[in-house]
Amino acid sequence: MKTTGFKGRDFLAETDFTPQEIKTVLTVAEELKKQTGMGIYHDDLLRAKTLFMIFYNQSLRTRNSFEAGMTQLGGHAHYLDPSKIYTPALEGKEVAYSTERVSDVARVLDRMGQAIAIRCYGDPVDWEYGGAHALLREFARWTDIPVLNMEDDIYHPFQGLADMLTVKEEFGGFKGVNFTMSWAYSPSIHKPRAVPQSAILYATMMGMNVTLAHPEGMELDPEIIKQCEQYAANEGGSFHITHDFKEGFEGADVVYPKAWCPTVFFKPPVGEDDEAGAQAIFDQHKDWKTTAELMELTAKNAIYMHCLPADRGYEVDNDVIDKTEGPGWRSAVFDEAENRLHVQKAVMSLVM
Ligand code: CP
Repeated sequence: MKTTGFKGRDFLAETDFTPQEIKTVLTVAEELKKQTGMGIYHDDLLRAKTLFMIFYNQSLRTRNSFEAGMTQLGGHAHYLDPSKIYTPALEGKEVAYSTERVSDVARVLDRMGQAIAIRCYGDPVDWEYGGAHALLREFARWTDIPVLNMEDDIYHPFQGLADMLTVKEEFGGFKGVNFTMSWAYSPSIHKPRAVPQSAILYATMMGMNVTLAHPEGMELDPEIIKQCEQYAANEGGSFHITHDFKEGFEGADVVYPKAWCPTVFFKPPVGEDDEAGAQAIFDQHKDWKTTAELMELTAKNAIYMHCLPADRGYEVDNDVIDKTEGPGWRSAVFDEAENRLHVQKAVMSLVM
């Protein structure tokens, strides 16, 4: 296992790393998790270092896992509300006295801390698909310190890492694991697609047998799909798309059903800014809800996954998400949430 070559690198997309590097991160995360469980401190790893966190969107898990992680590593995570600084904005999107150019914000924070983490998707970039990822890349262009992606409009790379650690813990590895990422109904169409895209990228990168289930009209980014097909071919797994919700459950070891918005909802040129059209697609598929009956179609000892927060009663029934123990299938949602802490500590230890 090669642990060199990480220092100073940004963590903006899983596709910037090789499958071997991602496996190294998971191994480091397992070690840090074990040490934390045994009460072994590792607060000398990032002692006196500062992580600046800029949240354009709400968060429970991401904020608290980064903050707790930095405390455990001996450093400090600094929360920045974009409306209380001068909102970092790209050239051409600036507003006098309320924004500050990203190139300036990035170079100032670079002089004071050791990494910058950013969450941005949806409303702050007016649902222009790719706009948030471009903002993060612009930060990275202007800093020498690592920039970490706490979820943008294309990738949620730390959620995906936590999901992979959860699968590895549960099944001892990835080969032969049948992993289904599925769309699920929500009353809100304001749902980014970073979680499903990162989930299928990582799952194919790790060599699992991956099924993507969604209604017609709910297609994910074609570039991401192409990359998944490439990973499946390279890593000895498979990748298959179905429009049948039930099929995604049959024989699956992992089911991960959650809502995401359709392409038509995004602003042109990627989408059509068609909110009514998007709502119509959602409303035709209210039956895409995970029930205990559907979970009975999965493989023995399957796990139900969700990044949280979940839309209870819509995406999933309570008796599925709350069944956190066997026998048979169980919900692993709180394992995933905890694993955010361990994988982020691993990446921060390696890159900062
Ligand atoms: N899963 C996740 O990113 O949760 P938060 O939105 O609470 O950070």
